[in-house]
Amino acid sequence: MRVTVIGTGYVGTVTGACLSYLGHQVTCVDVDAGKIARLQRGDLPIYEPYLAELLELAATRGGICFTTALREAVAGSDVTFIAVGTPPLPTGESNLCYLEAAARGIGAAMDATRYRVVVNKSTVPVGSGNLVETLVREGIRESNGAGGQEICFGVASNPEFLREGSAISDSLYPDRIVLGAEEPRALETMRELYAPLVEQQFDPPPFLPRPAGRGRAPLVVTSLTSAESIKYAANAFLAMKIGFANEIANICERVGADVVQVMQGIGLDSRIGPKFLNAGLGWGGSCFGKDVQSLMHTAAEYGYKARLLEATLEVNSAQRQLVIQKLQEKLFILKGRTVALLGLAFKPGTDDLRDAPSLQIAGKLIHMGARVNVYDPIAMEACKEQYPDLKMQYCGSALEAAAGADAVVLVTEWEEFRALDLKEMAGRAARPILIDGRNFYAPEAARAAGLDYSGIGRMAAAPALTGPRR
Ligand SMILES: NC(=O)c1ccc[n+]([C@@H]2O[C@H](COP(=O)([O-])OP(=O)(O)OC[C@H]3O[C@@H](n4cnc5c(N)ncnc54)[C@H](O)[C@@H]3O)[C@@H](O)[C@H]2O)c1
Repeated sequence: MRVTVIGTGYVGTVTGACLSYLGHQVTCVDVDAGKIARLQRGDLPIYEPYLAELLELAATRGGICFTTALREAVAGSDVTFIAVGTPPLPTGESNLCYLEAAARGIGAAMDATRYRVVVNKSTVPVGSGNLVETLVREGIRESNGAGGQEICFGVASNPEFLREGSAISDSLYPDRIVLGAEEPRALETMRELYAPLVEQQFDPPPFLPRPAGRGRAPLVVTSLTSAESIKYAANAFLAMKIGFANEIANICERVGADVVQVMQGIGLDSRIGPKFLNAGLGWGGSCFGKDVQSLMHTAAEYGYKARLLEATLEVNSAQRQLVIQKLQEKLFILKGRTVALLGLAFKPGTDDLRDAPSLQIAGKLIHMGARVNVYDPIAMEACKEQYPDLKMQYCGSALEAAAGADAVVLVTEWEEFRALDLKEMAGRAARPILIDGRNFYAPEAARAAGLDYSGIGRMAAAPALTGPRR
């Protein structure tokens, strides 16, 4: 099939690459001419593992091209995906200006030569299922006047669940595909488009073999509003699950329990499951915060106060302050101290800095008069470019960042940090203090390396009370 994807960000580029790998002929469109020029040169504007390799293969299968010419792309397509950003407004609502422009542009580009499906992949507020249809229709009217009545199209909602850092694997081997549509013809077109994914009838790329035991991908067909609600509910639940682990971590710290053991103990319960129970300095990224806020906003519009969602945001925000408190407990004064931050990206495997805890922590430390050394394997260039006012010392390695530091904070659990020589780090730092914001290291190993180790929700040190009472 012929497919257009509007928006070449983390979602759009991955969607385009995967659909093209499956054999569809894909055109990716963006308003950012600089981004398109880079993509045309094969120079990826984002970091995502295996994306470059997949794009190379995609070119030999369905074919993929990048352009700013929306009209031509949409005119020649059966299916047009909208994958533009929906960032939050200060009120917590989603900013729909990019979506509106894209949908109107699609409408203006349509003609009566074929039936088309417009698929919304962007995360849009629950209850706005008809918005895209209305905007496309407005675009058709603006461009064609009364003659636009013969133009046929359907609208579908196809929320995206990929995780940055494993986006290709998530897209090729999805846990489920959600399709919301009111019109059977739109649904049929989407079933046809996704058939190779649902049936898993494609040769896996050599660098990403199909996970053992992976069969058909469940297809969940719903109304438009339910499809949108699934996306928000999924993100709200995941954010809440981490928030829950953090809440328990804070209790563990006070009663002398170890949250890692506690979460292992509850995660083995099949009703709970082990994932997303890692306590730490809080979640970040472009989705959780904005989607939880947007869902709260929608609930409020309907007169409902979403208390659990409110608490989820509160717990996460407090968790980010915890690092500062821990540093104050260790160093008393932060003014004039040097703190090394290991990791900037909001999570490993990406260069995405949107709502990254590192930025808030660094900003607060700098505001309090501390010096900040930082090292991240991937996200430093993006940080320099996007946050030029954040005055940090960018370092060439974790050990370089730690050298002369009064404390080291592990912010992002990059696998590279696993191999870090902790003894060497303890020796290079001015004070061997390690705040492990992701409970990444074994406390005993870190202490054996000479570090004064504190995790989140872990026992401060071998407690004197655990031995037999004399
Ligand atoms: N990033 C994720 O992990 C993720 C996961 C699931 C869902 N989502 C949702 O997917 C959507 C896209 O997210 P993203 O992270 O890819 O965003 P992004 O900011 O990385 O990319 C959005 C792109 O859209 C382009 N754009 C804006 N207006 C346009 C227009 N009118 N025409 C063409 N291009 C336009 C921008 O230039 C940008 O390149 C959001 O709604 C987000 O909530 C994101």
